[in-house]
Amino acid sequence: MKRSLFMSLVVAALGCALALPLYAAPKAPADSFVFKAPAGMKMTKSLVKFPHSKHGAVKCADCHHKKDAKGSEFASCDTKGCHDNLTAKQGKDSYYAAFHGNNPKSCLGCHKAKKAEKPNVPTACDKCHPKA
Ligand code: HEC
Ligand code: HEC
Ligand code: HEC
Repeated sequence: MKRSLFMSLVVAALGCALALPLYAAPKAPADSFVFKAPAGMKMTKSLVKFPHSKHGAVKCADCHHKKDAKGSEFASCDTKGCHDNLTAKQGKDSYYAAFHGNNPKSCLGCHKAKKAEKPNVPTACDKCHPKA
């Protein structure tokens, strides 16, 4: 009796230990992370570096707000069905608007709103797209 209780505790503990990684929070990439050009897009500006650690006050899901067809939460923004319109400057599907749109979710939209509070927040083009 005692032995079987011990064994079921061991089994339960093992089960928890194995399940833990499934529930552990996913890790954000290092601050050296740089955007990749979407397939087929001719880039006119330098690629943007995005430091996750400076955005700890924003919830992961506020930016990673949609899963892709395979169920991944962290697919790139230009995933089919997301911000996959590479030419439009406006609209929900616009790749450009996702980063520069006049709303608090876009990079530039949020930075403009935070400028008074955090003067160092980048809002000028070449602060995000450094000239070579
Ligand atoms: C807060 C950061 C940020 C600022 C400021 C910013 N951008 Fe961007 N921009 C991005 C991100 C992120 C992307 C998408 C990823 C990439 O291109 O590296 C992007 C993409 C682009 C693209 C499409 C890709 C290309 O290279 O052609 C253009 C055009 C562009 N930006 C122009 C501008 C202009 C013009 C300004 C100034 C008015 C500006 N950006 C300011 C972050 C920014
Ligand atoms: C302010 C917006 C923002 C926040 C907050 C944010 N991310 Fe991201 N994350 C991005 C963007 C933008 C990308 C690049 C998407 C792309 O490549 O198109 C990205 C990329 C990623 C990637 C993919 C890296 C790769 O190599 O392709 C992972 C994983 C990730 N984020 C995890 C997280 C986690 C975990 C959190 C919360 C702790 C988080 N992110 C918070 C905007 C954000
Ligand atoms: C919801 C608000 C918000 C969004 C969305 C956001 N940022 Fe920021 N970002 C901030 C704030 C606030 C800071 C200042 C952090 C600090 O200095 O503590 C910051 C700082 C930065 C910095 C400067 C880091 C440094 O070294 O000082 C870069 C670069 C940057 N953001 C890029 C981006 C890009 C690219 C995106 C879009 C993919 C983005 N941010 C989206 C709020 C935001």
